[in-house]
Formats: sequence, C-alpha cells, structure tokens
Amino acid sequence: MQKQQLQQEVDKRRTFAIISHPDAGKTTITEQLLLFGGIVREAGTVKAKKSGNFAKSDWMEIEQKRGISVTSSVMQFDYDDKRVNILDTPGHEDFSEDTYRTLMAVDSAVMVIDAAKGIEPQTKKLFQICKMRGIPIFTFMNKLDRDSRPPMELVDQLEEVLGIEAYPMNWPIGSGRIFKGLYDRYNHRVEKFQPESEGRSFIPLDADGQLAEPSELADDDIYLEAKDEMDLISEAGNQFDREKIAHGEQTPVFFGSALVNFGVQTFLDAYLKLAPAPGPHETTTGDEVAPTDPEFSGFVFKIQANMNPQHRDRIAFVRICSGEFARGMDVTLSRTNKPIRLSNVTEFMANTRENVQTAVAGDIIGLYDTGNFQIGDTIYTGKQALQFESLPQFTPELFMRVSAKNVMKQKSFHKGIQQLVQEGAIQLYTTYDTGQYILGAVGQLQFDVFQFRMQNEYNSDVVMEPLGHKIARWIDPDQLDEKMSSSRNILVKDIHGDPLFLFENQFAERWFQGKYPDVKLTAKL
Ligand code: G4P
Repeated sequence: MQKQQLQQEVDKRRTFAIISHPDAGKTTITEQLLLFGGIVREAGTVKAKKSGNFAKSDWMEIEQKRGISVTSSVMQFDYDDKRVNILDTPGHEDFSEDTYRTLMAVDSAVMVIDAAKGIEPQTKKLFQICKMRGIPIFTFMNKLDRDSRPPMELVDQLEEVLGIEAYPMNWPIGSGRIFKGLYDRYNHRVEKFQPESEGRSFIPLDADGQLAEPSELADDDIYLEAKDEMDLISEAGNQFDREKIAHGEQTPVFFGSALVNFGVQTFLDAYLKLAPAPGPHETTTGDEVAPTDPEFSGFVFKIQANMNPQHRDRIAFVRICSGEFARGMDVTLSRTNKPIRLSNVTEFMANTRENVQTAVAGDIIGLYDTGNFQIGDTIYTGKQALQFESLPQFTPELFMRVSAKNVMKQKSFHKGIQQLVQEGAIQLYTTYDTGQYILGAVGQLQFDVFQFRMQNEYNSDVVMEPLGHKIARWIDPDQLDEKMSSSRNILVKDIHGDPLFLFENQFAERWFQGKYPDVKLTAKL
C-alpha cells in the first residue's frame, strides 16, 4: 500500500472501548451501534450472551450462571466512511486486569453512565485508567426515558468526582414520562423524542438558539427550563476545546436512551468526527512508531482460549500500531527475536470471524496461537528491532495454594496452568522451599473461572486452598536472604523468577521492615 493510501486508511479508523458500571447499558448501546453499522443481527444477540443463547465457549457457562460478562470481545463495522473497532470490556470488577489491558489497545473511550444513578464505583476505576493514559473520553448519559437525576447534577459530578471538565453537547428536555428530546447546541437543533412513532424529528435553531420553526415546544415549561439551563452553561460553563478533548482533559457529554434508541446516532455522528484516529505508540527506548510507518508492528493485549467450542483454539489479540497486515507475512517476535509467519488470522466483523482483508494501524487482528505468544508481546517487520511499552501488571490481593486432585494427572495439570497463566488469566508463583504452586488474583471470580476451565478444557480437577496472605511485595534478588522467610510470610518466585514475599497483612509487612530496615520492598505497580 502506498504511504498516502495507508494514511487515508489509518485516518478512517476509530478504535475505542465502552466503559461503564454493570447495568448502565453498555450492551444495549453496543447493539445499537452495530445496527447503525448495518450489522444485521438477530435483535438481542449481544444481549443474549448474558442469557446463554449465544455461548461462544463452554466455559462461558460460568458467566451465564453468574449473569455477568466475563470476556472482552472485538467488534468491527463500517459507518459513514469510518471503520469502527469496538473493544468490549467486562464490567465485573474481578476482571479488571483484562479490562485494563484492553484499554491499552484503544485510542479513545466512551463512558456510559446511568443517568438515574450517576457515577458508580466501577466507572470511576476505569475512568482513572483512561485518564492515566490521557486518552480522550466521551460520555453518554443513558436511560433518559426513565426519571433521571437533574442533568446539572450529573455534569457537576463529572467535574467533582472524576475531576474532568465536562462539555455538554446537548441537554435533555425532561426525563422519564416527560422526556421530550434534546436541545442540541452542537448541531443547532432540537431533536424531538417521538416514542409513538419510534423515531425522531428535528427543529432547527436560529442564530440566537431559538426554535426556527413553529412548535408546541415554544411555550412548554419543560423545554423552556432545559433551554435556560443550556443558556446558562453556554455563558458560564466550559469552552469547547478540541485540544483538551484530545488529551482527555475535557469530556463531551451526550444524553439519550440506548433502550429506545434515542440520542445514540447523534452521539455516534459527533463522536466519529471528534474522536482521534490512531496515533503514534511509544517503545521502550522512548522512540515513537507512527501509524503510517510502512513497516508492520503491533502488540498482544489479550489471549483467549477456546472462543469457539467447535475449534479448540487460542487467539492472541493484536493491536496493530503501524503499517498494514498481509496474510502470511513474516514478523519478528521481539521477546524471543525469532521469526513467526502470520498465516492463520481473523478479524472481528461483529462476531463472524471473517478472514482479514485489509487491516492497518488501529485495527485488531486475532492470531490463532499454538503457544507462541504472551501478553505484552511485540511483533514487527523490518530490520529495526522494537518493543512497545509493557502493559500494566496488577498486584494480586488474593492467594490460593493449588494442586492436582489426581496425582496421576500431573501432565494436564501443568499444561493447563502454564497456558492459563500465559493468557494472563491468573498469576502464578512457586514457593522457594518446596516448589508448590500458589495462584494470585485480583478477585475471587478469577479463581472460579480458573478452576472451571482447568476441569473443562484440560480435564484436570484441582484442589484450591485459600491463603490468608493479602500483600505481595517484591524484593531485590541481591538483598534476598532465604532466612528472611518466616512463619509470618511466604517466599515465592513469580513467572520471571523474581523473588517476592506474600504477607498476611500490613502488620506482618511492617514487622518485616522493622527487622530488615535496609531492604526495599516494592508492590511492582
Ligand atoms: P450493561 O451491559 O452495562 O451491563 O447493561 P445492559 O445493556 O445489559 O443494560 C442493563 C439493563 O438496563 C437492561 O435491563 C437494559 O434493558 C436496561 N437499559 C439499558 N439502556 C437503557 C435505557 O436507555 N433505558 C432503560 N429504561 N433501560 C435501559 P434488564 O432488566 O437487565 O434486562 P431486560 O430484562 O430489560 O433485557
């Protein structure tokens, strides 16, 4: 592909994740977006994942049992001359590690908030990760068809609780039974909610922001109140600032209802105009790789096993950072410095796995993996060796001793553990003295999924014994003396062979520090 053509293709890409607290409406909005993208699908298929009609794999039964979405998936569609990649993130907090890594692979994020509830804990956590990365964040206040909190309060909350400037693009005219539509200052129009005809109609605004056509809204108190508030915000609120939006310092705010499909298209149209195309990525040497660099490069942000029960496969999800992907291309795997041929690849046109046609910087490709890849791996073509910055590791807070129930089945036990650890599903430690396995997780659900998958995918029943230890602290190997291990801690190695102590509580950690004041312990965040 010529450089100019590559540039055009990259400019069309919009790659983002939707973040929200469970039940705010992420699934519903995703479905609406796919519909706008012309993805003809049975109504409710994204949704049906939850109820079990759309199981992608056996182990997802666990998510059906619990009624939560465990996995992230990738959906792609074309809309208005753009190629949109949506990276789904699980809402459940136990899966935050997976979610955080997914956020490393996007160029912007859409934050969906239930307008009756305001900002909830999980939204706040995910928001902070986006903010840390400085990626643009767009806000959709959902469920306006129900009674919502006063919009002024919702906008204030964004500023006070999240510490981000808010710029309302439109303003709700009432909510719930008296929801009449949106006063849209960005598009200079009023978008009328017409539930009876399942549609919307527009009334243009004149230069003064008044209704430019006769309408019953002109002397409707609810409309007048919304207009007053919008006027107040226009006078006293934040200025629209594209620079700030690009750096995640200001969030454009949209109102609507995903369920009745109102305000979603207005959001999508503006979002695709304002959201950034793929930008440069930094390497460990501090260099930047431009998306239009003719050499191909990308990194693995997620590995998922057995997505399709018919093919017992593993897929490594790669975010392309530069160049163009070509089937059968030879790349170098940075970690091993070894060549790999990329022949078996998929993309994600809304859940049908089509073979990749053109994939450029910004797109996500799925590589069928036989155990070559690890999370955080960089792959590239060309002579210039490179490694993208590492993905965040989260310090586990729950630990379990794990062993095979049946000692005759050690082989499948070890294979299962190795693969699931490589996938990033769970952390593995081995004790210094006896070489026993200890698993670490951020949340209990990770253990449940681990146990379930060990049995279902590797035919290995495991015994899990909870440890009271809650704090993991790494120690410089040069400072380590194995005698430091006592009844108050457990000395283990991580998968890289680095030593760390597992402490029961802060008291045990402080006791240790008191005894060895010169030893530096780190949480390795
Ligand atoms: P999530 O992926 O963020 O967890 O949320 P999801 O879309 O599954 O939505 C959670 C619930 O909120 C669903 O109801 C959904 O129908 C509802 N919902 C989503 N958007 C809106 C909206 O704009 N207005 C209203 N009133 N409700 C909305 P549920 O009772 O869990 O499922 P269902 O029985 O309705 O299918």
